[in-house]
Amino acid sequence: MATEPLDSAQSREAMFDELAAALSERGYAVIQSALPSRIASLLQQRVASLDDSAFRPAGVGRQQAYQRDDFVRSDHIRWFSDSEPSEAGYLAWMEMLRVGINRRLFLGLFDYECHFARYAPGSFYKKHVDAFRGRSNRVLSTVFYLNPQWGSADGGELLIYSGDGQVEASVKPTMGTLVVFLSETVPHEVLPAARLRHSIAGWFRVNASLGANIDPPS
Ligand code: OGA
Ligand code: MN
Repeated sequence: MATEPLDSAQSREAMFDELAAALSERGYAVIQSALPSRIASLLQQRVASLDDSAFRPAGVGRQQAYQRDDFVRSDHIRWFSDSEPSEAGYLAWMEMLRVGINRRLFLGLFDYECHFARYAPGSFYKKHVDAFRGRSNRVLSTVFYLNPQWGSADGGELLIYSGDGQVEASVKPTMGTLVVFLSETVPHEVLPAARLRHSIAGWFRVNASLGANIDPPS
């Protein structure tokens, strides 16, 4: 990023400071306008251009353990590829986030995987955690929203729960909002929406040899 102005690099570092502080204090962070708006709008155009046939029903568990479970979640997903420019732009930004968080919190984040999620009206993802302690190498979850002009009546909030089961935050899935949280300890839920709802769900992983073990979602 040789042409990047200094102030944009500085504001990104300031955002990473804020994010790291929130993660260590509360286990989650919610940041508006997190990515450059150019990256966000390319991703929004990209996801809007994809036909339903480009997505598959999301499941719970991976590989042999993969099961569709329409009771738990009813979204459709499409994994990213770095050969598509808008997706590559997102992955490059997430690489900066990975390095920034490792510098501040020493989490040893090693790589990142993500997918678009399409929630048709009425779709949901019931309360869950993204990783079971010690059984997955997913450590830090991200969700980035791609829904312009989202109103309160549109629903589709992400609810974040505290350890004792109280709703701690209700996040509108508005274009540009990024949510980051600890994968093993932060239960969360997607409420049904009245409109088509798009997000990018992703996970930073540590480099553990846990190949035989399951990652619960997706
Ligand atoms: C997930 C998830 C939240 C969202 O995919 O694990 O919790 O708002 N997604 O899309
Ligand atoms: Mn989740």
